[in-house]
Amino acid sequence: MASQFLFFFLISSFFPVLATREDQGFVRSLDQKPLGLKKEKLSHFRFYWHDIVSGRNPSAVLVVLPSSNTSTGFGLVSMIDDPLTLKPSLNSRLVGRAQGLYASAAQKELGLLMVMNFAFIEGKYNGSTISVLGRNAVFSAVREMPVIGGSGLFRFARGYVQARTHTFDIKTGDATVEYNVYVLHY
Ligand SMILES: *[C@@H]1O[C@H](CO)[C@@H](O)[C@H](O)[C@H]1NC(C)=O
Ligand SMILES: *[C@@H]1O[C@H](CO)[C@@H](O)[C@H](O)[C@H]1NC(C)=O
Repeated sequence: MASQFLFFFLISSFFPVLATREDQGFVRSLDQKPLGLKKEKLSHFRFYWHDIVSGRNPSAVLVVLPSSNTSTGFGLVSMIDDPLTLKPSLNSRLVGRAQGLYASAAQKELGLLMVMNFAFIEGKYNGSTISVLGRNAVFSAVREMPVIGGSGLFRFARGYVQARTHTFDIKTGDATVEYNVYVLHY
């Protein structure tokens, strides 16, 4: 009897389809605990995002020119690999990079579509990412954009960011923006 049971146990663990006939191996429900998903917590991160368009080593590169002659640059797309630092100074500690793109998505005012991953290198967050997708009306004092997910320590992340321009150099186009990230994660 015991050996029959053991046999069945072995078979069912080697062939999960036999064990859970209904789902055909396509989907099954899982216990959250073994995945380390114990208690959802709210974290607040603050750092500075540097969009460098001038000089010999820009961090933002225009990859698509606007298709029409609008004052908002509607249609332009810039690829970014922007440094994220602890303090407003670019020379302060690098905590990660914002990798992705922004595109001019509004015809009547300056409104960017932001699609970026914050790829952290700081401490235990090294290798974890937060994904942001949202609308950035760059002349507004505070721009809010959704956090739509993440990886590593930010699996199942959700939340929002608030962006505030810290400095903008009209001559060069370089910008430093303060980002406050409010994120629920495990
Ligand atoms: C684009 O706009 C500028 C400024 O309004 C104007 O001088 C120029 O002729 C326009 N170019 C085209 C191709 O329409
Ligand atoms: C982050 O992780 C990478 C890859 O594991 C490692 O090479 C790097 O030294 C780490 N950086 C920091 C700041 O710990």
